[in-house]
Amino acid sequence: MRRIYLDHAATTPVDKRVLKAMLPYFSEKFGNASSLHSFGREANEAIEKAREKIASLINAQKEEIYFTSGGTESNNLAIKGVAFANRERGKHIITSKIEHHAVLNVCEWLEKQGFEITYLPVDKYGFIELDKLEKAIRKDTILVSIMHANNEIGTIEPIEEIGKICRKKGVYFHTDAVQSVGKIPVDVEKMNVDLLSISSHKIYGPKGVGALYVRDGVKIETIQHGGGHEKGLRSGTENVAGIVGFGEACYLAGKEMKREILKQTKLRDYLIKNVLKIKYSRLNGHPIKRLPNNANFCFKFIEGESLVFQLDTRGIAASTGSACSSKSLEPSHVLTAIGLKPHEAHGSLRLTLGKENTKKEIDYVIKVLPEIVENLRKISPFKGKWE
Ligand SMILES: Cc1ncc(COP(=O)(O)O)c(C=O)c1O
Repeated sequence: MRRIYLDHAATTPVDKRVLKAMLPYFSEKFGNASSLHSFGREANEAIEKAREKIASLINAQKEEIYFTSGGTESNNLAIKGVAFANRERGKHIITSKIEHHAVLNVCEWLEKQGFEITYLPVDKYGFIELDKLEKAIRKDTILVSIMHANNEIGTIEPIEEIGKICRKKGVYFHTDAVQSVGKIPVDVEKMNVDLLSISSHKIYGPKGVGALYVRDGVKIETIQHGGGHEKGLRSGTENVAGIVGFGEACYLAGKEMKREILKQTKLRDYLIKNVLKIKYSRLNGHPIKRLPNNANFCFKFIEGESLVFQLDTRGIAASTGSACSSKSLEPSHVLTAIGLKPHEAHGSLRLTLGKENTKKEIDYVIKVLPEIVENLRKISPFKGKWE
């Protein structure tokens, strides 16, 4: 059976060119980057080259990039690291209701440690309202953490404006850019960000590696103590092969970005236009200000899980809500934050495109999806809720 992967927001395959770049670092170039001998130097040079590639993709200085194990760790390090390093100045942090759990759960944990968190609401498209942000900033606010692009509905936040407000008020600004880096232009200077999280496996790099950008001069302390790697901010022997792959993935993403944005936006809009022909369907998120690869729908009278299982039997990989939380029965916090009722949020479907997807594949989805929706509606236990 043909298999069509439309869950690129969950993860992506490792690009063959990335794998090729990584392979020598598992065997013949296996040195520990901290060692003084030639094996160590070889590993260290590879890490520094990768650091340059990552910095170049986001217009940062190489010295401002710190390697981590991925997006989750980068978010933990950014928020806890800034919170603890600046707690003498204040204990108030601002975030939004639609962040990934790798931000929300960090904030909830910090509340237990005596920090106060403001969770900003969003409008019907998922946008942060700038006046609400400005009003929420207080004298004791030390950090604002707002994601660049949402992982469920693809909404791209007005990051430059948010950054300007934070700069004006003298508050550090962190953004979770796990879904945006490599897919749309990211420039830490233009965006006025102080800290930015990146993950490799969302951009055709390997899993288990990521980075945190920390602007020079930002007061931050480590949350992982050890041998002092990454200038003492993130101890632990570096994942050399992973870092090399991550660097290559960033280089390729930058090189191919323009072409992919054009191609995927066209496919996405074709998909959206045709899926919305299905009765009682709606698009979640903004029609234009969304990631080029993201489409998120709600279908009344059915349940997202059943839809995903049915699509899977036809070879189509999709998701409902965030992949990381889709095992939970709770409706997606993002969809409820944009105003959907819990039973409406249950009927959601996220399709996220990647560079290998073709029009032929999308045509197959457009053919199969209406049949599945119709069949599920026939047996829907939810029907009464809308009638
Ligand atoms: C917006 C966002 N932040 C953070 C993460 C976590 O990244 P990682 O899987 O690299 O830990 C994800 C992954 O789904 C994400 O979409």
